[in-house]
Amino acid sequence: MKTTPKEGPAEETLDPEDWAAMRALGHRIVDDTMDYMETLRDRPVWQHAPPEVKARFSGPAPADPSAPAEVYNEYLRSVRPYQLGNSHPRYWGWVTGCGTVMGAYAEFLAASTDAVSGSFSFMSNNYIEMQVVDWCRDLLGFPPGASGLITSGCSSSTLIGLAVARNTMAGYDVRADGMHTAGKQMTVYCSEEAHSSVQKAVELLGFGSNALRRIPVNESLQIDTAALKKTIAADRAAGCHPVCIVGVAGTTNTAAIDDLNTLADICAEERCWFHVDGAFGAWAA
Ligand SMILES: Cc1ncc(COP(=O)(O)O)c(C=O)c1O
Repeated sequence: MKTTPKEGPAEETLDPEDWAAMRALGHRIVDDTMDYMETLRDRPVWQHAPPEVKARFSGPAPADPSAPAEVYNEYLRSVRPYQLGNSHPRYWGWVTGCGTVMGAYAEFLAASTDAVSGSFSFMSNNYIEMQVVDWCRDLLGFPPGASGLITSGCSSSTLIGLAVARNTMAGYDVRADGMHTAGKQMTVYCSEEAHSSVQKAVELLGFGSNALRRIPVNESLQIDTAALKKTIAADRAAGCHPVCIVGVAGTTNTAAIDDLNTLADICAEERCWFHVDGAFGAWAA
């Protein structure tokens, strides 16, 4: 749609200088991207960026703007060919997600409206999140009152989950008074196979990594629940306060699923919060 020039001083705007050229570039990007995705299988899973390409990412910030088409050409030359390869059907390096056509379209639509989610009841965006959370609750068989939120990934979910565990189980107002007023060292338990994001969360939340007990695994690479109980007992005897057990529904290296029912029983007996890392295995568990 064409805009009519207005009277008065030129308006400052983030609009493209040339809508027609920008639209043509958008069409080109979509066409190139469909070709790229459709022919993914014909290329190697990944290739390393050579030194001369890496060198293009150093140097001073540009003083002047670049033309959008130039920026896109630079992306085609120096960025797109050197990806991790996780979209490729023969990529076996863990579970780092994948690029899909609908995912790409969804990101485009979200970015083009600068979509935010906040507590504004008039926006449809928020209802999408609530609906997806309700769908997950039903698919996973959680009870009707169960709630949740969508996060950027599992590391942030673990951080939020362990913050809830800490704040609920501490026995005082951690949010107001901070960790230094804890009477006892709060301890957290997970298996040796649990993801590194558990340790990161424990560090960020002020437990300290020494408060994370990495429990050995059995021959199926599940947490050894007998060893877990012993460690909790020893910690209590040493004056610690066990607050949370992390079970893994699908470990990163082998997709082993901890015995979640037994862990739930131990949590009930020990008055610990139960956090399950279901990064990619929750659906299978
Ligand atoms: C079991 C498990 N937990 C947590 C994570 C971290 O997830 P994200 O990369 O989404 O932060 C991963 C990633 O592979 C994982 O396999």
